[in-house]
Amino acid sequence: MKTVLVTGGAGFIGSHTVVELAESGYKPVIIDDFSNSKRSVIKALERLLGQKVTCYEQNYQDTHRLKEVIAKEGIESIIHFAAFKSVGESAKKPLQYYANNVAGLIELFIFLNSTPINSFVFSSSCTVYGEPDELPVTEESPLKQATSPYAKTKQMGEAIVEDVTNGSEKLRCMSLRYFNPIGAHPSALIGELPLGKPNNLVPFLTQTAAGWHKELTVYGDDYPTPDGSPIRDYIHVVDLAKAHVKALDYLKNKEAGFYDKVNVGTGNGNSVFDVLHTFEKVTGVQLPYKVGSRREGDLMSTYASTKKAHELFGWSNERSLEDALLDAWRWQKTLHR
Ligand code: UD1
Repeated sequence: MKTVLVTGGAGFIGSHTVVELAESGYKPVIIDDFSNSKRSVIKALERLLGQKVTCYEQNYQDTHRLKEVIAKEGIESIIHFAAFKSVGESAKKPLQYYANNVAGLIELFIFLNSTPINSFVFSSSCTVYGEPDELPVTEESPLKQATSPYAKTKQMGEAIVEDVTNGSEKLRCMSLRYFNPIGAHPSALIGELPLGKPNNLVPFLTQTAAGWHKELTVYGDDYPTPDGSPIRDYIHVVDLAKAHVKALDYLKNKEAGFYDKVNVGTGNGNSVFDVLHTFEKVTGVQLPYKVGSRREGDLMSTYASTKKAHELFGWSNERSLEDALLDAWRWQKTLHR
């Protein structure tokens, strides 16, 4: 069996990817320090998969212990999710973001030289493009000025992965540029578990619908978009998770030194009001909201060209915005404050 190390495997995208890996015949091995996830996720994964899930509680930068895990489990590939991901927090704690997302990544690559690992999938983000000049965004679109330290760590991370791979006689690597992941597993056993008040739209929206917050604030309706609110490419987290499996399969057939970057989105642009109204339509739940001012650093519009993922490894999204919002709502209803 092909064994894959999943750093940050208890997180939102990581946990859904663990499910897809296991269901595709891989053996996922999680390492997670649970700094931004809950230990209960592992039990939920075991229930969902009906099998034991291997998880080591440790930081991915603890390479001494990592070496033991890699040897013991016979690991050949890594999907590297472990990173900090809050845009607002990154402006307040830039050094923590650079230390974890950039310095940690460099150390990880130095360490990988002494292991048999030869395939690496890097969690990147559409944030690397900044505010795009043209839509949809293709992988060849320029990387514009990053709008936050977080975004800079993803630009730097990609550059590191690319340069390391180009000079490597062993590694083949891919950066997946995620658009806006939302939703939850349809089993409602795993989903997004924001610690504290969520910054992202959909978890805040479902919490508001559940009565956890008085109302949702729409951050600006004066953008030059059809309804005045910003446009994003919201992708179901299960579809995104499946893209990781495809990427890994694809890398296996590549030569050492191979590197590429691929968008993972749906190709559809939806506004904040589209999301709100779609949620109300599919759930029948009224959502209290008000319109506020723009959030600093927010982009106006971005959505992906998904051609490359399709051409390279036959991946396309299969789930709609409706599916994603229904699954997010089903998951929300299992949560307690
Ligand atoms: C944010 C990050 C992005 C990161 C992604 C991770 C910024 C500028 N970008 O994307 O780099 O990869 O999270 O998931 O923060 N909105 C509201 N009210 C809310 C929350 C959000 O109106 O309470 C709006 C925002 O203005 C935005 C849209 O909803 O237009 C989506 O916001 P969000 O879910 O935070 O994602 P991004 O900002 O696109």
